Amino acid sequence: MTTIALPQNNNGLHGTLSIPGDKSISHRSVMFGAISEGRTTVDHFLFSDDCLRTIAAFRALGVKIETTSDQVTIEGKGGFDQFENPDQPLDMGNSGTSTRLLLGLLARQPFDIEMVGDASLSRRPLNRVIEPLAQMGAQISARDNNLLPLTLHANRRLQEIDYQLPVASAQVKSALILAGLQADQPTQLTEKLITRDHTEKMLQQFGGSIQQEGKHIKVTPQSEFQGQHISVPGDISSAAFFIVAGLCVPNSKVVLQQVGLNPTRTGILSALSKMGAQFEISNETAASEPAGDITIHSQQLQAINLTDQDIPGLVDEVPLIALAATQATGTTVISGAEELRVKETDRIETVTEELKKMGADIEQRPDGFVINGGTKLHSAVEPLDSHGDHRIGMMLAVANLIAGGTGQLQHADAINISYPTFWQDVAQLQS
Ligand code: S3P
Repeated sequence: MTTIALPQNNNGLHGTLSIPGDKSISHRSVMFGAISEGRTTVDHFLFSDDCLRTIAAFRALGVKIETTSDQVTIEGKGGFDQFENPDQPLDMGNSGTSTRLLLGLLARQPFDIEMVGDASLSRRPLNRVIEPLAQMGAQISARDNNLLPLTLHANRRLQEIDYQLPVASAQVKSALILAGLQADQPTQLTEKLITRDHTEKMLQQFGGSIQQEGKHIKVTPQSEFQGQHISVPGDISSAAFFIVAGLCVPNSKVVLQQVGLNPTRTGILSALSKMGAQFEISNETAASEPAGDITIHSQQLQAINLTDQDIPGLVDEVPLIALAATQATGTTVISGAEELRVKETDRIETVTEELKKMGADIEQRPDGFVINGGTKLHSAVEPLDSHGDHRIGMMLAVANLIAGGTGQLQHADAINISYPTFWQDVAQLQS
């Protein structure tokens, strides 16, 4: 276990950061690169533990992938049928995105594939993907309750499906799109709520076609994709730590460069605007995945109510909204967020437990939180704990800055899962 002394606030955060590449888009760029014809190059790839799992899995499947400090080059296999039988289980580590998307992408291979993961991933539900994939003809055998480790058995046929997703999940949707591309006939999906659409956008960028109308998606079977040059925008979920820090650490002003602004991901900005935050967006680029620079300065926030409709657009940022709510005037109620219970940790539990150590007035509900704001957070006396969850670790680092605290963080290394340069970036804004 790595325990570290958290960075202390000197005189606010100041300066400009280039935000590391988007995790969701980085994973998908390797997946589409692997099934495409020819070479794919990916700039500003996120070299974090999770994305390295996806690279390792495709290398084990015989895909040639080269990396430099900021770029990935993938020599595509030209479809789904040229992968090699991996000689050991694919180790998904902590990565839910790798696991769920690969289950769909690899559901029609001529050999068995085993998948394993770390303790946290081995507790996370896969039923939500396994069940519809089984309806399509995938042969998956997993431990009790459909948990990792599992075996994806050799299977040469997938049937189409007409499926209403019971959970709002981009991972499940993406797995079914990737399986639907390999089915006999078109697949129809209806989302519960609209979730991030990076798979749909990237599929089109690689020359495929997909029909989308609101929550309805139609996937036509196809296996011919063309290698591309992808430039990954900064991850808004990583930028979010510095957005909330910039708002809530007194005397701060930060500029976050080229942050992805895909409308299915900007729920954090909408929520903070509703809390009264003012920020500036400049240098916008209008690629398939739009991006822009965000400038934030410290200011007073007000409480907000978030419901199930709001959650998919900021699902990974709810812990940060909870933190911001401790500093806002009034009472914040977050409901319809039960998906947080099946993330890398039960984030309703871990956010409540950890923020209470700093004096937050926060109570959990089965599907969210009630937070009475206007609390002066104090330094935690006992060590804070990420519980092995990258986003909880970084949220607590921001909380400690807001508190002017001298806290310690246990399991700090979890942060490498999505943001290996996080501590350097905090230090840069303090210099
Ligand atoms: C992701 C989707 C979300 C998100 C995760 C990444 C993706 O998960 O929480 O960090 O890349 O598709 P769910 O689809 O389970 O909500």
